[in-house]
Amino acid sequence: MTAVEELLRSAEKLPPLPETAVKLGEVAQDRYATTEEIEAVIKYDQVVTASVLRVANSSFYATARPVGRLREAVLRLGSTMLFRIAMSRALRAIVSTDIRGYGIAAGEFWRHSVATGIGAQTIQQRISGETDATTFTVGLLHDVGKVVMSQHLAERYDELFTHAGLPSMPFFKIEQEEFGFDHAEVGSALAEHWRLPAEIAVAIREHHSPRAETPPLVDIVHVGDVLSLWMGTGIGTRGIQLSASGDALDRCGLSSEELESCACEAFLELKRVEGIFEA
Ligand SMILES: [Fe+2]
Ligand SMILES: [Fe+2]
Repeated sequence: MTAVEELLRSAEKLPPLPETAVKLGEVAQDRYATTEEIEAVIKYDQVVTASVLRVANSSFYATARPVGRLREAVLRLGSTMLFRIAMSRALRAIVSTDIRGYGIAAGEFWRHSVATGIGAQTIQQRISGETDATTFTVGLLHDVGKVVMSQHLAERYDELFTHAGLPSMPFFKIEQEEFGFDHAEVGSALAEHWRLPAEIAVAIREHHSPRAETPPLVDIVHVGDVLSLWMGTGIGTRGIQLSASGDALDRCGLSSEELESCACEAFLELKRVEGIFEA
């Protein structure tokens, strides 16, 4: 058994994947989930429905008249935005944990996860002219391994990441040195435990080490992660040490101007979904 498998086995209470998230993942598998398909899932989940209504009535849509019914909210938001809100809300309990040791508060970690999903989709849209829901899900879950590590290796984690004399290196490298594995491997194993599609587990595992032979989704999520730091989310004590791989940027074919414009666009989108952070 590998060290990561041992950690997951000893972590008695692994968070279950919420039912709504599982169903949303299923409708997203055909890439272009329609508003009707998404609505059919979320109408049974009051908490998700409430978030969708809140965002549809937020100041971003201030010129439109208020909507009170899910059907109207769904039509106003469109399928991409609807999926973002629904999946973010459905996974909130999992990614809103306080990540001890990183100096990242609970709400901030969740915001970083959502911002990475939006950043990745913005990059994908820029490169290929289209985007899909799975990309958002990977962005949302890319750092989920930190939740497990910070909970189950709590003491060493706290001590390690608050230690003033740490060398200036990204946190995943410190994790590798200290534990022999990092949060990307743990998150990927958790995705497998949840029986998520292999492409999601692979993208989570490789998000810090995109290479020519890894799938394009890895490059996209890697750059989305960095964009989300540019947006000022999830910096914590060590986030500042992360930078985008030049090779990944080359493969995406984006100039630095295009990257900056993606960051601005993604930031506006993040503002648009801000209503889900309120409750
Ligand atoms: Fe990470
Ligand atoms: Fe991240």
